[in-house]
Amino acid sequence: MVKIAPSILSADFSNLREEIAKVEKGGAHLLHIDVMDGHFVPNITFGPLIVGALNRITELPLDVHLMIENPHQYFTQFIQEGADWVSIHCEGNRHLNRDIICLKEQGVKAGVVLNPATPLSSLDYILDYVDFILLMSVNPGFEGQKFIENLKNKIRSLREIIDKKGLRVEIEVDGGIDVDNIQEIVSYGVDIVVAGSSVFHHRDPEWVVREMIKRCSQM
Ligand code: DX5
Ligand code: ZN
Repeated sequence: MVKIAPSILSADFSNLREEIAKVEKGGAHLLHIDVMDGHFVPNITFGPLIVGALNRITELPLDVHLMIENPHQYFTQFIQEGADWVSIHCEGNRHLNRDIICLKEQGVKAGVVLNPATPLSSLDYILDYVDFILLMSVNPGFEGQKFIENLKNKIRSLREIIDKKGLRVEIEVDGGIDVDNIQEIVSYGVDIVVAGSSVFHHRDPEWVVREMIKRCSQM
């Protein structure tokens, strides 16, 4: 079953409790939280305290996507505040193996994120250590961008690699996904779909999540 992870980056921050209640009612499986530091990406968003606040208002597992320099310095704080899934980018990380092991030792689901142009070969020596791979299907930093077409091949290739190795690594895809393209994208072998603007900028986020789940189950 495909999991839907609404990204609160697109939610109304003055009304987070109600925004989250809507996607919970729609059947969302995870809550995706985009942490940006203004260095790794040209935008700044949330820190650990917001993750702690979100943890108090929802039962949904918190899927924390760290778009930050030096994630090792910060991820324990996010875990202490309630992060359940934590993903770190491979780009520029000199100690990816150490960081993933460290995340797993702290009991969270550990994931590696690849930017759109980062090759799958970057995963050669880390794939068997992770719980999931997050493939960026837009350039990280902002909501509301268009899905990058060549990600379809990338998803398909990663699915093949994982299946061939017999691993139980889940594939999460993030960026530019809506009710119209979700079915096709998921057909390439996606386990978790992140959706921001298509959910929260719609007048009925509950309906969007329910519709996404329905379309994924009709395949
Ligand atoms: C982009 C973030 C995404 C973003 C997705 O840097 O990682 O999670 O919120 O937003 P949409 O679904 O609008 O592309
Ligand atoms: Zn994200």
